[in-house]
Amino acid sequence: MERQFSNLKGKEIIVGITGGIAAYKTAELVRELSKRGANVHVVMTKNAMEFVTPLTFQTISGNPVVHQMFELFYGSKIGYIALSDIADQMVIVPATANIIGKIANGIADDFLTTMVMAITVPILFVPSMNTKMWESKAVQCNIEKLREMGFEIMEPGTGDLACGTQGKGRLPTIEEILEKMEDIFTRKDLKGEKILVTAGPTMEFIDPIRCITNRASGKMGYAIAKIARRRGAEVVLITGKTYLEPPRNDIKVIEVITANEMREAVLEHYKDCSIIIKTAAVADFRCRTENCQKIKKEDNEETIILELEKNPDIIAELGRIKENRILVGFAAETENIVEYAYDKLKRKNLDLIIANDVSKPGIGFGSEMNEVTIIDKTGYARHIPQKSKDEIADIILDSVKRILRKRKKTF
Ligand code: CTP
Repeated sequence: MERQFSNLKGKEIIVGITGGIAAYKTAELVRELSKRGANVHVVMTKNAMEFVTPLTFQTISGNPVVHQMFELFYGSKIGYIALSDIADQMVIVPATANIIGKIANGIADDFLTTMVMAITVPILFVPSMNTKMWESKAVQCNIEKLREMGFEIMEPGTGDLACGTQGKGRLPTIEEILEKMEDIFTRKDLKGEKILVTAGPTMEFIDPIRCITNRASGKMGYAIAKIARRRGAEVVLITGKTYLEPPRNDIKVIEVITANEMREAVLEHYKDCSIIIKTAAVADFRCRTENCQKIKKEDNEETIILELEKNPDIIAELGRIKENRILVGFAAETENIVEYAYDKLKRKNLDLIIANDVSKPGIGFGSEMNEVTIIDKTGYARHIPQKSKDEIADIILDSVKRILRKRKKTF
């Protein structure tokens, strides 16, 4: 089973459910929060119970579901006080026009609205409603008020709505909600930095339908992009062809196919970046001649010769022009891991190199897990045992942060 790296682990999370059709999707959110190690307490309004039942949420969360104003639990404390005292974060999902209006205007007439008043930890609203309702002056004015009051608000998604129309008002995906919740708990220690990440494989065409590529999935680079953004950095992700969803919608994603396209994109964007992390598995060679038509096989030919020429070494080029930018490379090796990787770091003028042994089963290409050795300019090598790629990404960014801190001290 995939081991999750999550800031939600061990946290007390209150999920407030209100009466919108998207309430059924909240069951999935509660399940995912529990999977990430959070202790979830569900609070439902009377209207929410028209759409979903407390039993579902009690079963998934393993905690009593609160829906009555004067419920007593956790000893003899009144429920909303007891819960607001232990909470680390609260999320209201779906947040209807009604709950938005009530809280924005200080109304506390049920358990959920009363508890919101007693809570001092971050509260996230995830609105979902019909487009016209969302765009109405009343809702927009109340949303503005909530923002001013310091609440976190997610923008609804756009697409098919339960009322049969199309437009803005959909509940964001569960992954987006979880990412926003992780974000709220994350220290923004990379704020002010702009990071360029390359990811995935490049692809070189043999003819219009065949290509040379490699087994890189892009997962490590996408994890670095996501965690860097979570930690407050501005992120540009230049990616070869992968089958992954974009890591977050506040990351600039540039899609490329070939090594030459990746080089062009990198050279266009590296200048205003302070950190460059090159996880991409760049194809070292491309076909010397471009075949515009499909190569046909001949009956008398048992072999075919493809003439290949070298692709540009993007990271080596960056190493020559990087000035004081931090440059991080990856080295996929099968033997003499640290020795070969450190040699690459020196040859390509890198600040850090992340080496992994791709011959080991269960890690590396395509896997959710990785095991790496982080080597710095002095040759100091730190082995990181098998962890999720998100966690490895966080540790790599800690090493980058350490270099930043040292530099700031020296200047
Ligand atoms: N890299 C690059 N451009 C290339 C090849 C590699 O920018 N044409 C970058 C990769 O993104 C990675 C690092 O160089 O960060 C090391 O990649 P790797 O393929 O292990 O290095 P090579 O120099 O190609 O070494 P090898 O001789 O092991 O193939």
